[in-house]
Amino acid sequence: MANFRYRLFGGHAPIKVDDYTEAARRKVPAMAWPYLSGGADDLVTMADNRDAFRRWRLKVRSLTGVARPDLSTTIAGTKVSLPIGLAPTGMVGLAHWTGDIAAAKAAEAAGTRHVLSTASSYTMEEVAEATEQNHWFQLYPFADKPKVAELMTRAEQAGYTALFVTVDVGVIGNREGERRSGMTIPPTFTARRLLEAGTHPAWWWNLLKHRRAAPIHYITGPRTIASAVEGARDQARRMQGDLNWDDVAWMRDHWKGPFYIKGILDPDDAERAVSGIGAQGVVVSNHGGRQLDSCLGALDALPPIVERIGGRGEVYLDGGVRRGTDVLIALALGAKGVFVGRPYVHGLAADGQAGVTGVLDIFRAELVRDMVLMGLPSIEALDRSWVLPAG
Ligand SMILES: Cc1cc2nc3c(=O)[nH]c(=O)nc-3n(C[C@H](O)[C@H](O)[C@H](O)COP(=O)(O)O)c2cc1C
Repeated sequence: MANFRYRLFGGHAPIKVDDYTEAARRKVPAMAWPYLSGGADDLVTMADNRDAFRRWRLKVRSLTGVARPDLSTTIAGTKVSLPIGLAPTGMVGLAHWTGDIAAAKAAEAAGTRHVLSTASSYTMEEVAEATEQNHWFQLYPFADKPKVAELMTRAEQAGYTALFVTVDVGVIGNREGERRSGMTIPPTFTARRLLEAGTHPAWWWNLLKHRRAAPIHYITGPRTIASAVEGARDQARRMQGDLNWDDVAWMRDHWKGPFYIKGILDPDDAERAVSGIGAQGVVVSNHGGRQLDSCLGALDALPPIVERIGGRGEVYLDGGVRRGTDVLIALALGAKGVFVGRPYVHGLAADGQAGVTGVLDIFRAELVRDMVLMGLPSIEALDRSWVLPAG
């Protein structure tokens, strides 16, 4: 086992979250990698998501006697032992056949929660059945109201406590990497791709054996290759740019628990979410740079949104969080918690559930060390005074 791990991580145990990304890249076929890691157009926003953290510095207070900082907080109405949740990610059966179930199990073992995507590889009932805790559900707001109502009712009945409605996918972003690698609908196979596929036999074996790559909530009937392709097509067809605030208000009225809008970058929209339709809050997010390129990096968009709705609505952030210090910067700037996408998807691809656990363990260890070094006693004690502009 130790040997396998050392080989997977290039001769050492995983040291930082990005080590899982390197290992994941080696584990999955080149065809699937752009979907699991890439972004839109020229990846400007994807890069900005990470660069934005470099524009801030953390404050250090000396001799505060902090040895065991308290990492616990509340996200989406749930007490968590870590200020990090797992963002919704579709079709993660492409990372590892154990997919959403492994991710949700690793989240709850770490004392946090997972947001199950509408485009998940396992149904919401399967994930609920396989886990101990109640998790959260992400909804794509289709114009087809009966379908949306059915998904919300199922999620409520299966015990999902909070709903995250993603509003930044009026149409699927221009992910050129996926087209170049043949990850089209249906996938495009060439002799070269088939040859490369032969170098990842375990991945292909699991894909064909378990058939967990397709977005299962869009599939009716048995999980065949044809139904997987039709499910992916149906998903793309249902993304609709003509939805508006009234549609989301209708969803708000039909969901009893905490309700969040994911994919907000503008303070006016954050205001409308909270005071217009009564959402509990927003997730400041550009979908990890996978939708509109050259829009604001998530952390750059955060401060004006906090300024506008802070105190009245909960503000979360995702995009580019790879370090404990990133989490602390986002929280000091007013986020109540953060979500990570690629880090855990890559943990999953590299090593299944153990990989997701490994990623969360690294985040926790970094947070504890960073907070001791800052003299910060608890996550709840963080405020704007703990962060300064760089330079
Ligand atoms: C492979 C993949 C699939 C995703 N699928 C969804 C999805 O189905 N629904 C959604 O709201 N966001 C989806 N996202 C976006 C994430 O929820 C999140 O906004 C993003 O990954 C955050 O950026 P990060 O990857 O830098 O942490 C996906 C992201 C990735 C990487």
